[in-house]
Formats: sequence, structure tokens, C-alpha cells
Amino acid sequence: MTAYRSHFADELGPDQLDQHVKVAGWVARVRDLGGISFFDLRDGRGIVQVVVDPAVVPSASDLRMEYCVRVEGTLRRRPAGTENPDLPTGDFEVEAGVLEVLSRAAPLPFMIDDRSHSEERIRLEYRYLDLRRPRMAANLRARSRCISAIRRTLDHLGFLDVETPTLVNSTPEGARDFLVPSRLRPGRFYALPQSPQLFKQLLMVAGVERYYQIARCYRDEDTRADRQIEFTQLDLEGSFWEREDVFAAIERVVAAVVRDLRGIELPLPLPRITYDEALARYGTDKPDLRFGMDVTELSDAFSGTGFRGFGGALDAGGVVRGINAGPMSPSRAELDGLVGRARELGAAGLVWAVVNEDGGWRSPVAKFLDSAEMAEATRILDASPGDLLLLVAGGAAMASSVLGAIRLELGRPGSHEELRFVWIVDFPVFETTEGGDLVPSHHPFTAPVSVEEMRERPETAVAQAYDLVLNGSELGSGSVRIHDPDTQRAVFETLGISDEEAESRFGWFLEALAYGTPPHAGFAVGIDRLVAILQNEASIREVIPFPKTQSGADPLTTAPTRVVDDHLEELGLDLTATAKAALAATDQPPTGPSEPAGS
Ligand code: AMO
Repeated sequence: MTAYRSHFADELGPDQLDQHVKVAGWVARVRDLGGISFFDLRDGRGIVQVVVDPAVVPSASDLRMEYCVRVEGTLRRRPAGTENPDLPTGDFEVEAGVLEVLSRAAPLPFMIDDRSHSEERIRLEYRYLDLRRPRMAANLRARSRCISAIRRTLDHLGFLDVETPTLVNSTPEGARDFLVPSRLRPGRFYALPQSPQLFKQLLMVAGVERYYQIARCYRDEDTRADRQIEFTQLDLEGSFWEREDVFAAIERVVAAVVRDLRGIELPLPLPRITYDEALARYGTDKPDLRFGMDVTELSDAFSGTGFRGFGGALDAGGVVRGINAGPMSPSRAELDGLVGRARELGAAGLVWAVVNEDGGWRSPVAKFLDSAEMAEATRILDASPGDLLLLVAGGAAMASSVLGAIRLELGRPGSHEELRFVWIVDFPVFETTEGGDLVPSHHPFTAPVSVEEMRERPETAVAQAYDLVLNGSELGSGSVRIHDPDTQRAVFETLGISDEEAESRFGWFLEALAYGTPPHAGFAVGIDRLVAILQNEASIREVIPFPKTQSGADPLTTAPTRVVDDHLEELGLDLTATAKAALAATDQPPTGPSEPAGS
């Protein structure tokens, strides 16, 4: 293959037995057994054991972990009893005739194997070493295969891959913008795109009927397990499209990715539930359907109850809802814990009950309920003796969200072996903030089902908007768009954006809509989230080559960094006293000079 290597480690097998092979990679593990040295050689694709006889290759005793080496030798079957069943190449070893150290490695900050659990900041500071770990290398490969399956599918469907700019005007997606100062136009700023939303809509105006892009997006928001300030979307859009066209394209893409990464055929079409049903049955718009325990309506079972805890809530227009947590025998302390948790989540209380053999309940409130009520609730919840039932009374939204959160805490599987996709359809156009303001539940370019309904009942109006959820995570979101400027203005107006403000922020976009815009619809999938779940990782940081920490920093390059005063001045910027004080508290020297080398 190259002067350094004839085979990657994962290619070595019975076909190469007793042949002369050349391998190259890193020393992963060294063992010295009675004068003979063994080491694991790891390359970008696998691991193979190398055996070195110091009489043949004297340099073997100098080997240290993570030295970069090349080896020439003969592939042998390992002696019986010394095979390693955990390694795909575990039946073989390379008997070295030549061993050359290509470069040495300094003492390591952590062990490069999947068993070591180093602090994440150190892993990120030495990310180039962290990425040598087989699991991380597998994640990088999976990410690459995911993107390649996306491209293959969409290229085949006739989509055009179009790049949109990343120094742009603000594109509102509900987060803060990252700003980039302009040197040539002091006092002005570019925003980094929160998504290519408006550019992809302009491409529809431009007659690009099917667009996609693997797009880098930037949102200045708090980092979490499923959020980074810089992340990647599969962004797509189609003209003369409705929701069903979006679903068909995305389902083909997702099925291709799952086939490549998991080797399974996803049953299509994917199931759908409405936003209202998701909130009622799971207490969230991103339900995890890998397990049951659905939140169930029990109001009818208790409609005539003498128990004040339930009757009072029903009289006030509320509900009684419950979940069947299945056969469980929690301790008293655990039950008290659940009650406390429900209160923390906003419920006045939580009723627990264990179903007895005779169908009655063991519960602190059993004495207040009659046996017909308990039997009916047991029936509705499909409960058997020994099952734990949890009930909440009060407002419908609160009852479902409290029980939905407890459902997740009790039932959520610990790994993503099983994949349960679901479309959530019929999102509302707007959400109401705690302060009472209307904000778009997706973004303000989403078409309402009816403009009249949106004007008359904005709080409940339904949008042509949908999400794709996988195992309880929001994987993507999209909508049919507004394609006429008057409807777009009506949405801005309902959001309380004045004509002048709409004109100054989005005048260029409203103008574009006025030139024969085709009806269009689209979607964006979070690639980091998709790969993380398919790779069974708890955080997207594990599938992003160089992610940021919780505080938005990169411990490897030390970004974000200070800049020299000259550079600030050139950009027309001055730091506030607060920013100066924050800098003084750190000891990082400014980077410079501002003038690019060689210009
Ligand atoms: P939305 O804002 O819902 O929609 O984003 C789409 C998907 O992108 C992913 N995502 C993120 N992933 C990691 N870190 C983040 N900070 C982050 N924010 C979002 C999620 C999310 O579902 N323009 C619209 C799409 C459209 O309407 O076509 C948009 O960006 O997986």
C-alpha cells in the first residue's frame, strides 16, 4: 500500500497467514515476558499484536507507550491458549523482523484506552490523543459515514448541495447571535448564522428546487450534553413541497444513516403523533417511546369521588392523571422521594398506590377512595397485582408534565440499543413566555394553518410545523414556510414586531418573497445528536472532533483569547470596564499582531 504499510491492522487475517506484512501505527500496550516483548500496535482502523525477539530486534526494549512505529514481519497464528477473543485480530500476531521508531512520544497525560476516565478538560486539552482512543476513532468514522450516507441519498434524489455564507445578517432561531466586527465598516457587525434558514428560502426564490447543505451553525447559548455553541445541521428545503414531501425525503435519509451505522432496516413510514397528544401522554414534545408508562386520563374514574385531593382538582376544572410504573416494590423512603420530586416539579402532591391481589390498593389515600373507583382506575391503567401506580391531580398541563418527568426518571433505558423515531406534528404557531409575550414556537417563517385563526386566537393557533424525535431527543425540526409577504408581515405583526422594525431587520427578505416565491417546505436535522445517539453516547461532545467546554472554551487552543489593543482599535472596538476587569482576573496574554503574516 505505502512504503510504511502493506495492511491496516483490521485487514490482517487468515489470508495473510505466514506472509510478510508491513504495519504502522502507535504502541498501545507493551508487555515483557521472559525476554520476549509483545506490544499492541494500533492504527487508524484496528489493533494487532506484535511479538519481538530482542535477539532479532534489539531496539524493542526502548519502546514506550504511544511511540509511532513501523514493523515488518511475518503474520503468525498465536500459540494455542494465547488468543485474545476480544480482538478481531486476536488469533494472530506479527513476528517482527524490522521495528523502526518513527517518532517518540512524551509521557502521556492519560492512558489511551477506552477504560480510562480522565477529566473532560484534560481530554479536550489533549484532544489529539483522546481521538486516538478506539471508541473516539470509531465515533469519527461513524460521523463520516453518516454524512456520506446523507450525501449519497440526497444526491441520488437530485438535491443540490449549496453553500450559504457564514458572515451574515441575523437569522433568528431563538438564541443569541455571535457577532463578528467588520474592519472595513467600523461599528458594524456580521452575525454568524444560527441556521441557513433565510438563505435556503432565498434559494427557493432563486429556483433551486431541492437544496441541502451540511451546515455549521452558531448559537450563543449555554452548552449542555445535547448542545454546543457551534454545531452541524443537515439543512434541506424543497420547492412545490408540502409536509409529506419533507417527511418522505427525511425518512429516506434517516433510514440510510441507520442502515450504515447500525446495519438495520428502519420500518417506514415513521409513526406520528400530534403535539397535543405528546404533551398529554408524555408531558413533553419530545417523547421517549422506548417504553410504556404513558400518562393516562383518570378523571372519569374519580368524577364522583369523596376524596378531596382529587375532587377539589376536578371541581376546579382540572384532571386526575396517572402512570402505571409496573411491578415495583419501592421502600417507604423511595416513595417519599417520588412525592418530593413531584412537588419539586410543580405538583401539589403525588398519590402512590400498589395494587393488591384482591384488586384493592395499598396506598395512603385508599381509605378515602371507594373500591369501585380504585377498580376502575386499575382497569384503565391496565394494572396487575404488584404494580405501582402514581397519580397527580390538578391542571392538565402540570399533571402531564410532572408525571412525564417521573416516567422518564423511572423508565428511561440507560442506552440507545433500541431506536424509536417519531414525528411530532401540528405544533402551535406561538408559545407564551412566562412574562406573557408571544414567541414563535419554531421560527417566524413558519406558515400557520390559517392566518385568520392566527390573528384571532394566536395562543392556540396551529402551525404547519413538525419535529423529528429519536429516543426522547429532538433530532430535527422544520415546517412549511410562509411564501407570501403579506402573511409574513401578519406573523411579524402578531409577534409585536412593528412594520418599521420588520422592514429594517427583514426588509431584504420580505422584498425577495415578493418576486414569485414558490410554496416551499424544509427541515434541519442535528447531525451531532443523530450520531451521538446512534453511537450510544450520552453527549454530543463525544462525536464532535473538537468540541467546546461548558463555558464555551477550547482548552486545546485556549480560544476564546484576548486580542491586542491595536486590533481592537482597528475594529473600532473598546472594552468596557467590566470586560477589562474580567480579563485582569485571568492571566492570559493577548494574541497578536493583528496584521496577517505575509500580507
Ligand atoms: P432548529 O433550531 O430546531 O431548527 O434546529 C434544528 C436541529 O438542530 C439541532 N440543534 C443543535 N444541536 C446541537 N447544539 C445546538 N446548540 C443545537 N441547536 C439546534 C437540533 C435541532 O432539532 N432553521 C430551522 C430548521 C428548519 O425550519 O428547516 C432550525 O434551525 O437537533
